[in-house]
Amino acid sequence: MSYETILVETQGPVTVIRLNRPQALNALNTQVLADLIVAFRAFDADPDQRCAILTGSEKAFAAGADIKQMQEKGYAEMFGEDFFADWSKVTGTRKPWIAAVAGFALGGGCELAMMADIMIAADNARFGQPEIKLGVCPGMGGSQRLTRAVGKSKAMDMCLTGRMMDATEAERANLCSKVVPLADLMDEAMKMAQAIAAMPPLAAIANKEAVNAAFETGLHHGLLFERRSFNGLCATEDKAEGMAAFVEKRPGVWKGK
Ligand code: CAA
Repeated sequence: MSYETILVETQGPVTVIRLNRPQALNALNTQVLADLIVAFRAFDADPDQRCAILTGSEKAFAAGADIKQMQEKGYAEMFGEDFFADWSKVTGTRKPWIAAVAGFALGGGCELAMMADIMIAADNARFGQPEIKLGVCPGMGGSQRLTRAVGKSKAMDMCLTGRMMDATEAERANLCSKVVPLADLMDEAMKMAQAIAAMPPLAAIANKEAVNAAFETGLHHGLLFERRSFNGLCATEDKAEGMAAFVEKRPGVWKGK
């Protein structure tokens, strides 16, 4: 597969996708989105791939949606294209993926990192929703996902002032799962990805769906969804293997069935 704006490689069962528009600090134009959709689809479709890492450069995860591409677009064009709607194809990825964020994660960059199942930040990461300074508001989920992650007051602070949040504040606010030294970012992300990749694959997808249900439903239906997922996994060979392996004091061997 050849891509214009991203680099993709596999390391065993882990797919590493790197945003690669250094001249624009990885600003997210429609080509980046098109490339990411193909890459995440290919990742989902490959039975040997179990977890993905999305990252950028040391200076920028992504500095936002591409302002130069949006500059001339008016309401009719944006509405007609339903601009940004296709990012749901990225969030539709079924297998788990991690955002490993270094440098700027601003606007759409912060929003893309928040689409990940887990976010790890380097100590130089800077997050922000500066769209207000451009006369707009977040368009790829910032007002929704940031608010769910950090709560109303801090989300309002970020969206209304457009200020940046450093990695320490992001971790304290639960925006990311951990902060690591920049030099360790990819090793730490890979360690986590390999741990996830070693899990029974159907259970990994079911766990991801169950946690995501907490964002989509009320508690009653979320709990019901979780119980039914648990019940359903009991029909898999991996469940039989996992419980047998525990009882027999040996590691499980997964089939993804
Ligand atoms: N879109 C297009 N180009 C961008 C960009 C963006 N979001 N961010 C940076 N670039 C380009 C710059 O124009 C510059 O290109 P040229 O060399 O051709 O001029 C290049 O990347 C390097 O950027 P800077 O010279 O500005 O680098 P810096 O180190 O001085 O500053 C920065 C870095 C603070 C991140 C600054 O680039 C910046 O503020 N970028 C814009 C951030 C922003 O507003 N993001 C939100 C975009 S709107 C959005 O994302 C909507 C949404 O919700 C989806």
